[in-house]
Parts: sequence; structure tokens; C-alpha cells
Amino acid sequence: MTDEMLTRCSVGREGIVSGRLMPGDEAPELLSLRPSRLSEYIGQRELVESLSIAIEAAKGRGEPLEHLLFHGPPGLGKTTLAHIIANEMGNQLTVTSGPALEKGGDLLGLLTHLEEGDVLFVDEIHRTPKAVEEFLYPAMEDFAVDFVFDKGIHARSHRFRLKRFCLVGATTRVGMLSAPLRDRFGMMRNLDFYVIDDLVRITRRSAALLEVPIDAEGARCLAERSRGTPRIVNRLLKRVRDYAQVRGDGRVDASVVEAALALEGVDPLGLTRLDRRYLKTIIEYYEGGPVGIEAIAATLQEDVDTLVDVVEPYLLAIGMVTRTSAGRRAGADAFRHLGFKVQVKLF
Ligand code: ADE
Repeated sequence: MTDEMLTRCSVGREGIVSGRLMPGDEAPELLSLRPSRLSEYIGQRELVESLSIAIEAAKGRGEPLEHLLFHGPPGLGKTTLAHIIANEMGNQLTVTSGPALEKGGDLLGLLTHLEEGDVLFVDEIHRTPKAVEEFLYPAMEDFAVDFVFDKGIHARSHRFRLKRFCLVGATTRVGMLSAPLRDRFGMMRNLDFYVIDDLVRITRRSAALLEVPIDAEGARCLAERSRGTPRIVNRLLKRVRDYAQVRGDGRVDASVVEAALALEGVDPLGLTRLDRRYLKTIIEYYEGGPVGIEAIAATLQEDVDTLVDVVEPYLLAIGMVTRTSAGRRAGADAFRHLGFKVQVKLF
């Protein structure tokens, strides 16, 4: 088992994270801005409400929480919620991801180390190899795994009994999950982009934790440029903090946010250089669309998955682009935002 495959966090018992290697967005620095309790969590009110009911009910019965699936665009809090769940249940959290689980044995190693009620978080669960996914079914349903040793006439099967654990899966592509896997989750919840008021509150909370003095307009200005995404709030806040420290007196107001984010290529709607290149490609190269995602990716020399997972969800949410069976089309707002004359195609 490699360190990349597993991050065992002692959040449940000690409120700290192990010193093992962690992927970028799990870095302790970012984690410290994350809420560790449901009561601190801002936004996603209905989801937080159903989680708090499920947690209280499971604790009342002395049972582990049912398996949970979170889906939605990156940066909206799926990993944060897994940490919170382990904290609230008072159990340990083990973090891994679908692509890191290459063989059945990798998963078996993680599962057999779980204690009663522990939480196993599998990020990008839609990228779990099929052979590993098949181990997950009995593990989730019966808390057991059948492992076959050797091959052919020497094959022997051994059933490993597992402690009752809670699997928290996260995915940006719920449509790519197989039906048998989807059916084994007791709760499936979508995370939506955050409304501005919630992003303002997150900005103020993070600024307080980082000890960055920010006024009301500065917080709103940053929130409006964060693509509905708390992770982006926290990332941009750090760039703004640097700018204020070096070019100003350390205090952040709207003009500091505007100047710092213009340097980062973030425009007043929060669109990045890649967002604008994506829209411009549809408008300039493909006359506003419809155009297939592969053609856009080839023109941009970008990965299709990056466009589908990272770029498109927010542009779709704000109506800058639409998806039809014939392909992607730029909306009138995209033409206007980028300074093009609006072209309306009649079909
Ligand atoms: N930091 C990142 N996401 C957050 C959230 N939803 N609530 C509070 N702080 C956060």
C-alpha cells in the first residue's frame, strides 16, 4: 500500500490530520480553512439538515451511518463533508480515491483496517477500476469481502469479515457510476454552486482565520468572482492577501480585490482565462455552436475531462453555454460578456 493510495486521518479522535502525503487540495493549509463541524458549515442548507438528522439518528441507535454519495462539481465541499461526518460520528476517516485503487488487494488492505463506524472516503469513485468495484458490492452490503487466492485448480476463496463502516463516495460524474454501485448508497446528494450571500460569509470566515482585514465590499467583490465555489474563495483570498501585503497596507477592500484578481486573469464574473478561451473558441471558431466537446478540446489543446468537470458546470449554471444533443452552444450573455455582437441562429 502506498502513501498516495491512503491518507489515514485521525480527525475523529484527535482533530488532526496525519503527516502522510496528501493530494493538492487535501493540503493541511487548506484543510485548516475548512469547517470541521456541521454547525460551522455555511451553505447547502438542505443537505446539512438531512445529514445532521441522519447522524443524530445513527448515533442514537449506536449504528454506523449509511453509505453516502456526494456528487457535483469540484471544490463545493464533498471532501470537507467526509471529514465533518467522521468528526461528528467520533470515528476515524480514511481517504483514498478511485484511480488509486488499482487492485482488489488495495481495497482489501484499507477495508480490513477499518474499525466499527469508521468512514472510508473514496474520491472520484466513478474512476474505480471495475475489478475493484466488484469488491465494493459485498463490502458495502454485507460488510464482507471474498478474496480469491491463486488461480485455476489451486484457487482458494477466503471471506474476510469487516467491521461495519460507512463509505462516503464523491464524484463529479454521477452518470458514470454503474447502477449496482449507485444502488448500494443509502443517501445520494448533489452539491450545488453556492449563492453569493453564502460565499460572502465563507470569505469573511476564511479571512478571519487567516487574519486578513477585509471590508464588506471587499468580501462581496471576492465572493462574486469565485464561481460559486468555496475552494476558489479560499484560493483567491490568498492571492488577494499577498497583493494587499506587498502593494498596499495589508487591508483588503473592493479595489484591492479587483486589482489582485485582474492580475490573476479573473474577470468581474469570476471567469478565468480558460473559461474565456473556451467561450471564445465556440464563438470564433464554431460560430457560436453547436459544437462537440471533443472539437472544442482539440482546438484548445485541453483535456476533455477538464472542460467537462471543471470549466463547463459553472458556465452552464450561469447560462453562458447550453448543451444540446448537437453539441455546446454559446449563450447570448457569452457573446455580450466577451464583446461580440450577439448572433442568434435559427434552426
Ligand atoms: N470553507 C470552505 N467551505 C466552507 C463552507 N461550506 N462553510 C464554511 N467554511 C468553508
